[in-house]
Amino acid sequence: MDFLQPASWDEALAAKAANPEALPIAGGTDVMVELNFDARRPSALLDLNRVSELAEWATENGTIRLGAGVSYTRLIDELGGRLPGLAMAARTVGSPQIRNRGTVGGNLGAASPAGDSHPPLLASGAGIEVASTRGTRVIPATDFYTGVKKNALAPDELIAAILIPSAAGPQQFSKIGTRNAMVIAVASFCISLDPRSETVGTGIGSAAPTPRRALQAERFLAGALAEAGLWQSRTGLPASVAAEFGELVKAAAAPIDDVRGTSAYRLHALWEGESLLYVLRERMGLPGSKNACEQGECGSCTVYLDDTLVCACLVAAGQVQGRTVVTVEGLASGDVLHPVQQAFVEAGAVQCGFCTPGLLIATHDLLRRGTRPADAEVREALAGNLCRCTGYEKILEAVRLAADRWPEPAS
Ligand SMILES: Cc1cc2nc3c(=O)[nH]c(=O)nc-3n(C[C@H](O)[C@H](O)[C@H](O)COP(=O)(O)OP(=O)(O)OC[C@H]3O[C@@H](n4cnc5c(N)ncnc54)[C@H](O)[C@@H]3O)c2cc1C
Ligand code: FES
Ligand code: FES
Repeated sequence: MDFLQPASWDEALAAKAANPEALPIAGGTDVMVELNFDARRPSALLDLNRVSELAEWATENGTIRLGAGVSYTRLIDELGGRLPGLAMAARTVGSPQIRNRGTVGGNLGAASPAGDSHPPLLASGAGIEVASTRGTRVIPATDFYTGVKKNALAPDELIAAILIPSAAGPQQFSKIGTRNAMVIAVASFCISLDPRSETVGTGIGSAAPTPRRALQAERFLAGALAEAGLWQSRTGLPASVAAEFGELVKAAAAPIDDVRGTSAYRLHALWEGESLLYVLRERMGLPGSKNACEQGECGSCTVYLDDTLVCACLVAAGQVQGRTVVTVEGLASGDVLHPVQQAFVEAGAVQCGFCTPGLLIATHDLLRRGTRPADAEVREALAGNLCRCTGYEKILEAVRLAADRWPEPAS
């Protein structure tokens, strides 16, 4: 397999034109699961991590141009006020490790009907800027999704950016799943109100073969709000209007069977698409990071990549060239345990110890921010780290203890 690593956007487009079969990889949180489980074995990977243009965003005439490679974490931190619907959706994606790596461009590339970016992109009338060496075009989000996990990209095209109008009014995103963290949507919905143009935007996710708008519901609500003079007032919506709107959204949906599937466990060969986790454990003899799910679900392989928390199972080995990785082995100073490690031992937060290395790194990442976290923040920070035997009370106790002893307490 070829591992193509362009250093600029022009190089990336040239590489894609010369190798249309090359599979782009950005955060890798979808691609690496497919590679780990042998669901896909492309002849070439096109690593977009070093294309700095993709990791930028800018504002032009009230429209945000969001580079395809901006992570969910940055989107939440830097654009939450301007793109509230998309930021709300981003907050529900996976765990901190997934949000640090995953991108809206990758969500569009995967085009899963359950992708959380899609409803807000549809509701806010976004356009997808795609490019090839032949030129650039903007595809309205409504035309981008062409089937289950299919999109309108030509084989030589890459997603450059997403063009999204800054919110002109309230936006809301809601997602139903089987638990309240680390969950793929069973159904999701976004609504965006624009009081200036008196229009309503909607996006339905995971309830049809492709994400889609509920056009009739949009028209109905815009008219009902105008009729009742509610565009300029904050009075509650009449129950009958809300009920009719709900019915029209329901009518626009066409639920599908779940497309998340598994495939046979892969036999690892030596190639650049193998995961960082495999390289650490099997090639470098660093067994601290554990291998449990290989799909970013359990967090037992959590490490720092250039100081950012990631799941090592979702990073391609080739993407790590020239980068710094710190594993749990790097926390202790020789034989002296790090205070976080010591706290886990003292609080009895370790039984089989399988989840412990990942929890230690994730806890370290939380506490190094320098503020003493509330229990709710601890739960959120550790949502991507599953423990199968100790139970989370002891783990919470260990985090509180470590916070009390943190070497660099809040100033
Ligand atoms: C544990 C776990 C939890 C998850 N939870 C959620 C969730 O709650 N909600 C959700 O929506 N998703 C979730 N995902 C899926 C995934 O994180 C998202 O789809 C994410 O947005 C993918 O972004 P990425 O940068 O990692 O994409 P990658 O894996 O790098 O790429 C995904 C696809 O997009 C293509 N691609 C990437 N960049 C480009 C580009 N610039 N041009 C053209 N094609 C491109 C790739 O070829 C590939 O087909 C989860 C994944 C895991 C492992
Ligand atoms: S998250 Fe990487 S092995 Fe489970
Ligand atoms: S201590 Fe066994 S899985 Fe957490």
